[in-house]
Amino acid sequence: MMNNFKRTLITTALPYANGPIHIGHLAGVYVPADIYARYLRLKNEEVLLIGGSDEHGVPITLKAKNEGITPQDVVDKFHGIIKKSFQEFGISFDVYSRTSAKIHHDTASEIFKKLYDDGKLLEKTSAQYYDEENKQFLADRYITGTCPKCGFEKAYGDQCESCGTSLSPTELINPTSMISGNQPVLKETKHWYLPLDQYEPWLKEWILEGHKEWKPNVYGQCKSWIDSGLQPRAVTRDLNWGVPVPIEGVEGKVLYVWFDAPIGYISATKELTADWEKYWKDPETRMLHFIGKDNIVFHCIIFPSVLKAEGSYNLPENVPANEFLNLENDKISTSRNWAVWLHEYLEDFPGKEDVLKYVLTANAPETKDNDFTWKDFQTRNNNELVAVLGNFVNRTLVLTQKYYDGVVPECGELTETDKRTLTEISNIKADVEKSLDSFRIRESLKNAMDLARLGNKYLADEEPWKVVKTDTERVKTIMNISLQITANLTICLEPFLPFSMNKLRDFLDLGKLDWDKFGETELLKAGHKTNKPELLFEKIEDKVIEAQLQKLLDTKKANELSDAVVTPVKENIEFDDFGKMDIRVGTVLEAEKVAKTKKLLKLLVDTGTDKRTIVSGVAEYYKPEDLIGKQVSVLVNLAPKKLRGIVSQGMILFAENADGSLVAVSPEAEVKPGSEIK
Ligand code: MF3
Ligand code: ZN
Repeated sequence: MMNNFKRTLITTALPYANGPIHIGHLAGVYVPADIYARYLRLKNEEVLLIGGSDEHGVPITLKAKNEGITPQDVVDKFHGIIKKSFQEFGISFDVYSRTSAKIHHDTASEIFKKLYDDGKLLEKTSAQYYDEENKQFLADRYITGTCPKCGFEKAYGDQCESCGTSLSPTELINPTSMISGNQPVLKETKHWYLPLDQYEPWLKEWILEGHKEWKPNVYGQCKSWIDSGLQPRAVTRDLNWGVPVPIEGVEGKVLYVWFDAPIGYISATKELTADWEKYWKDPETRMLHFIGKDNIVFHCIIFPSVLKAEGSYNLPENVPANEFLNLENDKISTSRNWAVWLHEYLEDFPGKEDVLKYVLTANAPETKDNDFTWKDFQTRNNNELVAVLGNFVNRTLVLTQKYYDGVVPECGELTETDKRTLTEISNIKADVEKSLDSFRIRESLKNAMDLARLGNKYLADEEPWKVVKTDTERVKTIMNISLQITANLTICLEPFLPFSMNKLRDFLDLGKLDWDKFGETELLKAGHKTNKPELLFEKIEDKVIEAQLQKLLDTKKANELSDAVVTPVKENIEFDDFGKMDIRVGTVLEAEKVAKTKKLLKLLVDTGTDKRTIVSGVAEYYKPEDLIGKQVSVLVNLAPKKLRGIVSQGMILFAENADGSLVAVSPEAEVKPGSEIK
């Protein structure tokens, strides 16, 4: 399958170091890349798995500003969390680097400088918004204003989050700098552009003609970008966080984050080995980019054009990009805390790394967006890992202990079923390879689990626990075959469930076997002694799942509260205007529902000077008996009004929640009815 390639360089999208890793990252990029890398390693192929943190860009500077710390503080914190969680989870990176590292700054500068010196970049001056008070140009995200399409007053310079239109900052009405709050001015600034239009014919040839085998979602996106015509793209920004533009006399400008980030793959390789050029420049190296769908244009069009312009690097051979994973039917979002965070999962489910890997692979968003639900997580664990894989392995090992004190028995004469079962192992191997080789990782896991299903069925059909009473020779053969299937499982499932297969090898007292042993039927010799097994997987109970769902519910509630549109403050009034209102503390004496209405309560209120009737629209939120005896705030000089035939003399004040529900505004301690509120 490797054609002319001698080795494989696998890159994984560098996650932004402004938040921790969640299941969406894992399912889209890191789990499939890790499975694929482990598979190649088992085949003794030369492979590198490259990762690192993407530490530049405007969002990181914004986060730093909000928290009153430096951008370096932000990325130090998250790089640490991310790196640790990947390691504990078992993503088998050969190197996990970061783009604030010196080696990266040097590498990115060099490549930019080469393009600049070779005349591959355009220099262009344009007018951009500038904050005069802070003396800096404003990134699109630093500018807010009124959306020209829908009138939303808090639209960003690049997008209106209310109507979704993408904008350019000069389209905003009343633009405001988010840094100073002032109106920014337009000022000329110089930037360098990659003339993508010039690469169009080459991209057509290379992708549209040369890589028809790419996944349809990837190929389709490339085609639509190319077909709609490529424009020169700025590769520098006015910002003071990032890789400084390496041109004499240029200050306050950095490389655009999407220019430097993919170069991070190169810097990480350099950090790992002095022999890095072999991985990047030798045509016998096959490069693969594992990414999510929002990264396609950068990895298939822009970065390859940079590499092409530079001239000495390989281009990607394939870009197996995934779609998105949702969580319980909602888009995963870092800012809204709608995610299952890897570092929290590792704490909540110690020793269950493989379970998450399994579920994310079985349900991977390979061809369309998919949904992660905790119920599905539980079902797949209980019905597949425990009931199929765990059950087969456990029965085999326990029976071997029971009948033979753990020693592998001789294999006798084979029945037709035995032969068919053993041949099936090789068929399964071929299936797993075929799907893995074409990046259908989800299908490959299903193929691999077929081996456990095969074993389970074999045991159920052959019933050694019954045969043992009548034919002790036959039982030896059944158990030998079951043990060979188990040994094959340790190879077959190694890329997918590395922690569990490690355990299983310990139970079998077996070393790690290469992929080419997969299919052999004498992996365990008769006479070999196995160890006492423990359970490979355990059932996950309802209460564990309920606790996770409750956590999400709490997030949802918190988001709803903070989403409540807070009504803008009304125009200023004079104190006299306020003084016209006579607001008193009253005590509710009687309360009853107004017949034939849903919302109205008729209340009798002691206002200190009189007892009066007030009709209030709170029946949906208060039962009459809950209000009786309560002290409330009453606007007593509101002109009387007839409601449903009842004259209401005044108004009781309520605070409105995000969901429209009402809460009475009561004095903090009991006071005399009639006390003025002022
Ligand atoms: N940080 C980017 C994201 O999360 C991915 C960068 S991939 C790289 O979308 F190639 F640019 F590094
Ligand atoms: Zn809008």
